[in-house]
Amino acid sequence: MSSRSAELFLEAQKYLPGGVSRNTLLRKPHPFYNHHATGCRTVDVDGVDRIDFANNMASLIHGHAHPAIVAAVTEQLAKGTAFTMATETEIDFARHLVGRSPSFDKVRFVNSGTEAVMAAIKAARAHTGRPKIAKVEGTYHGAYDFAEVSQEPAPHSWGERNHPNAVPLAMGTPQGILHDVVIIPFNDPDAACAILDEHRGELACVLIDPMPHRAGLIPADENFIRALWKWTRDDGALLVFDEVITFRTEVGGMQTRYKVRPDFTTMGKIIGGGFPVGAIAGRDETMAVFIPGPYGPRLPHSGTFSANPITMTAGLTAMELFDAAAVARLNALGELTRARLREAISASGAPASVTGTGSMFKLHFKAEAPRDYRSAFPTTEERHAHRAFIDALNDDGILTIYSAAGALSTPMTEVEINRLAEAVEAALRKAKEELVVR
Ligand SMILES: Cc1ncc(COP(=O)(O)O)c(C=O)c1O
Repeated sequence: MSSRSAELFLEAQKYLPGGVSRNTLLRKPHPFYNHHATGCRTVDVDGVDRIDFANNMASLIHGHAHPAIVAAVTEQLAKGTAFTMATETEIDFARHLVGRSPSFDKVRFVNSGTEAVMAAIKAARAHTGRPKIAKVEGTYHGAYDFAEVSQEPAPHSWGERNHPNAVPLAMGTPQGILHDVVIIPFNDPDAACAILDEHRGELACVLIDPMPHRAGLIPADENFIRALWKWTRDDGALLVFDEVITFRTEVGGMQTRYKVRPDFTTMGKIIGGGFPVGAIAGRDETMAVFIPGPYGPRLPHSGTFSANPITMTAGLTAMELFDAAAVARLNALGELTRARLREAISASGAPASVTGTGSMFKLHFKAEAPRDYRSAFPTTEERHAHRAFIDALNDDGILTIYSAAGALSTPMTEVEINRLAEAVEAALRKAKEELVVR
């Protein structure tokens, strides 16, 4: 316990449960404490400089302290940060987002991805008058009770592959919630539709992340998405795309790759330009649940800081800069990253693989790339190797999300990708040694 980060963690544990405000920062022996960051580099309180491939859990598309965002937000700060009044910026930002995807007629802003998914589920219920939702096994959609079901099931409880159990995440989850969440397997259209058929007429929506991070960061197959699209059209349930992470993959989100028009889309992360944000977008017909009628709206919905002008200003600036050319450049850099990582894996001789698309990647301690949550589920040995790998990367000046996933930012170039590949190769060699020693 000699570093400043170690000292701060001791102090933090006196006032914050577990010493943190979000468990995703936990690592042994302590989290890193940031001092400052610019572009794609962060410097911690011990003066250690790292290339940032975590980007605050994939939320910073332009890295840290982008000059245009800093200037726009600084100007707005002096004019006030939150009012019991609407602002013109929220209209400008909504217009911008509506222009990015053919499935967006209207947008409602909230403060986090969790809130966006919660609003989408409630809006789907309000629109259809149905209670249940369906979601994919092993997927993370934020902290709403219904969205959390089967987020992290374990082999002893997950049940049949073709008919997964609805497994609670948090202790004390009410039975009624498990009853109202239907779990389908990823990328298996036949099994998924057979399960959905058992709930015809009961489902408000099928909630889908086209590349679920916790289920392996594997892109959904075209035929899987098409099958869910068709099933929901036949049944009258809504199709909800959670693009909180994947909105970065295309100008109009990853949905545009599948040529389907979801009824609702949730967004968050990058659209806040570095500030807390969430949004739900959809067709006029479905978004109408938010509009007050003679007896009030079908879905009463507000939020004290929703569409605050700081987030709106930062988000609009960030997303205007992330135009078609910027998206294409970052996706090409993503292709290069995954190719370099595959080379690093073969050079190291470690049994590992890489998944991802667009500007994201994830490493697995599996020789064959996983296809879904169950095949991505690590063995105890793989967990040990994973930890050794992340520690080695961090020591070598690379920061990734703790799951060994990473997200690129626009300040990055081939230079950072080459450095990543070099560090990954060295870290894989160390992790492999660790496996052998055990
Ligand atoms: C797909 C997805 N949905 C929802 C969320 C929740 O977003 P937030 O952390 O802003 O509440 C996340 C966060 O990682 C996510 O990845």
